[in-house]
Amino acid sequence: SLAFPLAAICGYLAGSIPFGLLITKAAGLGDIRQIGSGNIGATNVLRTGRKDLALATLLLDSLKAGLLALGFGLLASREVGFVAGAFAFVGHCYPVWLGFKGGKGVATYAGLLPFVSLPGFYVAAPIWLGLFALTRISSLAALTAAALVPPGAWMLGERNMFILCGLALLSLFVFWTHRANLGRLLKGQEPRFGAKKDTPD
Ligand code: G3P
Repeated sequence: SLAFPLAAICGYLAGSIPFGLLITKAAGLGDIRQIGSGNIGATNVLRTGRKDLALATLLLDSLKAGLLALGFGLLASREVGFVAGAFAFVGHCYPVWLGFKGGKGVATYAGLLPFVSLPGFYVAAPIWLGLFALTRISSLAALTAAALVPPGAWMLGERNMFILCGLALLSLFVFWTHRANLGRLLKGQEPRFGAKKDTPD
């Protein structure tokens, strides 16, 4: 079937639109890659102090994966929808336009989840929100949610093996994109929001 490669190509192209970079540039904040962690995602946009722009980045990065997963899910199947969303995640992390140096995939992962596995979303959303509220460390919230999505989705009734294995792959991928964050977390050097020193280095 042509649905899978088509979903992958469309997903990659949509995912590779770097909304965080475009939004902050348009707002005259310069190059987000020179600020904070250097990441192009909503967390780092928040370090500019612009909550509105961070929220817009979060929504648009989520939507680009969510809409692709929803669209291909409706046109073909949940599996094809997953591939579209997963390739949006890949496109976000490795955008050809930015020399393959993109984001860490958390918003795109969150955006595809409700359309490919509601049980997975019901696990991820409260864990991410709860841990972020509690620790004020975005990467810690993301890594914990990513680790718990595959087993948690299964516990909440997800039984599609393609989806469960796909989620496990995406979660592993999130650990890979957060390898620098993971190193800082283990050394106790990952910055918290609200703390005096807000930028890693
Ligand atoms: O969404 C990415 C987040 O988990 C970490 O972002 O900028 O702190 O590396 P950052």
